[in-house]
Amino acid sequence: MKRERLSVVANEQVGPYTLLRVRRGGIDPGVPGQFFMLEAPGRLLPRPMSLCLAPPRELAFLIDPIGPGTLALCALTAGEDLHVLGPLGNGFELELECPLLVGGGIGIAPLPYLSERLGSPPAVLGFRSDRHAVAAALVPNAQICIEPTLVTELIPAGLDVLACGPEPMLEAVRAIAPNAQVAWEAPMACGYGACYGCAVEIDGVLKRLCVEGPVLCAA
Ligand SMILES: Cc1cc2nc3c(=O)[nH]c(=O)nc-3n(C[C@H](O)[C@H](O)[C@H](O)COP(=O)(O)OP(=O)(O)OC[C@H]3O[C@@H](n4cnc5c(N)ncnc54)[C@H](O)[C@@H]3O)c2cc1C
Ligand code: FES
Repeated sequence: MKRERLSVVANEQVGPYTLLRVRRGGIDPGVPGQFFMLEAPGRLLPRPMSLCLAPPRELAFLIDPIGPGTLALCALTAGEDLHVLGPLGNGFELELECPLLVGGGIGIAPLPYLSERLGSPPAVLGFRSDRHAVAAALVPNAQICIEPTLVTELIPAGLDVLACGPEPMLEAVRAIAPNAQVAWEAPMACGYGACYGCAVEIDGVLKRLCVEGPVLCAA
C-alpha cells in the first residue's frame, strides 16, 4: 500500500458516470476488487473507489457523481493532482473454473479490470436505464438488462459468481449462488482499519469492510 500524489490524464464521460484516468506513478494496481482512497484537492476526507481499469502507466476509476466527494473527483481536469492511497482491502479470488461476472449500476466499476485478469469471461449486467447501460461497453462479453428486468434473472446455475452492486442485488445473488464472491460497500473514512466507520453486520457478525472485505465469500 502506498500514498502518492498523482496527476489526472483525462476525465471521460461514460453515460452518467465519469472515467477518471490518472498517472499510475509507483502505485500497484493490486488485485481486482481491491480499492483505493482518492482525495480531491481541498476535500477533507478521501473516497473509496474500486480500480476499473489498469491501462499501461495509468489507473482508471469509474465514478458515479452522487455527492460532494465524487462530484469533486469528477470535476478534476487533465494535469490537476489528487492523492491516491492503495491498493487496500481484499480483492476477488481468481482461481476459478467457470467465472460469471455479475454487476449492477455503478457496481460494474471493478468488473472491467476483473474481466481482463480472468480472460473476458461471460458477464451479466443490470442497469436502471439505457443511459446508465452505456457503461456496459467497458465489460467485454456482457449480457445486459434494464429495469424492470433484474440481473439476477440472468444468472445460470453452476457458475463461479463474482458480484458487485447495490445491497439488495447482492442479497439476491447470495440466495441464488451461495458460494458467490461478493464486493460489499460501506462509507469509509480511513480505508485501513483505524476508524471502524465501515463496520457492518453480515450474517450476524460485525466486519470492518476495509480490512476484511470489501470482497467476501457469501458462503
Ligand atoms: C470499497 C468501495 C469501493 C467503491 N467503489 C466505487 C467506485 O468504483 N465508483 C463509485 O462511484 N463509487 C464507489 N464506491 C462508493 C463511493 O465511495 C461513495 O459513493 C462515495 O464515497 C460517496 O461520496 P460523496 O461525497 O460523493 O457522497 P456522500 O455525500 O458521502 O454520500 C451520498 C450518499 O451516499 C451514501 N453513501 C456514501 N458512501 C456510501 C457507501 N460506500 N455505501 C453506501 N452508501 C454510501 C451516503 O450516506 C449518502 O446518502 C465504493 C465504495 C466502497 C466502500
Ligand atoms: S474505513 Fe476506517 S476502519 Fe474501515
